[in-house]
Amino acid sequence: MSVLSNPHNLSVTAHAITAADRHDHYGHDGAVLWLTGLSASGKSSLAMALEQTLMQLGYSCYVLDGDNIRGGLNANLGFSPEDRTENIRRVSEVAALFADAGLICITAFISPYRVDRDQARLRCKQGFHEIHVSADLATCEARDPKGLYKRARAGEIREFTGISAPYEAPERADCVVDTASEPLTASLEKLVAYVLAVLPYKT
Ligand code: ADX
Repeated sequence: MSVLSNPHNLSVTAHAITAADRHDHYGHDGAVLWLTGLSASGKSSLAMALEQTLMQLGYSCYVLDGDNIRGGLNANLGFSPEDRTENIRRVSEVAALFADAGLICITAFISPYRVDRDQARLRCKQGFHEIHVSADLATCEARDPKGLYKRARAGEIREFTGISAPYEAPERADCVVDTASEPLTASLEKLVAYVLAVLPYKT
């Protein structure tokens, strides 16, 4: 690292514990399961159910959820494109650390911009799995569990995803679940099958 690219004179300390050590400890590789989709598409419900099911199967997991993280780590961020990019950048960093620690990190953020998700993939490397929680706008708006779509239509919430801010759907997601056309239990089963296939436990 040149002096110019290291203005704070940092030097990285290597861990004595390797990824293989962590695999032996937890019984699986660390990874990031990145759920993306519109508000009310079912990301949070699926993420929490997936965490619970995987833990019952022996996996070690933790969910980072948009509304939760925005109450703490990202409490200073709003919903402008710049703030959403910073939201996803910070979450990518945290998720990458969880995966590096050997855990399966399940993230549930709208993450509407393709370029931000691509950056997250770059940061999290081969352990990154993009999962599109696909429910069309009409379905999400009809659900409207928090009444936010109604308020966005009334002009009370600005830059609301799907109404007055864009959602760029994944073009090549690693896994797609359609929560508009199937019950949540069916989407959950599909996600669990995906994880068992790509992140086998104790092999
Ligand atoms: S992201 O776009 O930056 O990825 P994130 O997933 O963290 O969004 O937060 C989305 C949640 O914030 C929504 O589920 C909703 O409860 C709330 N929210 C408040 N304002 C907005 C808005 N303008 N657009 C989208 N979601 C919003």
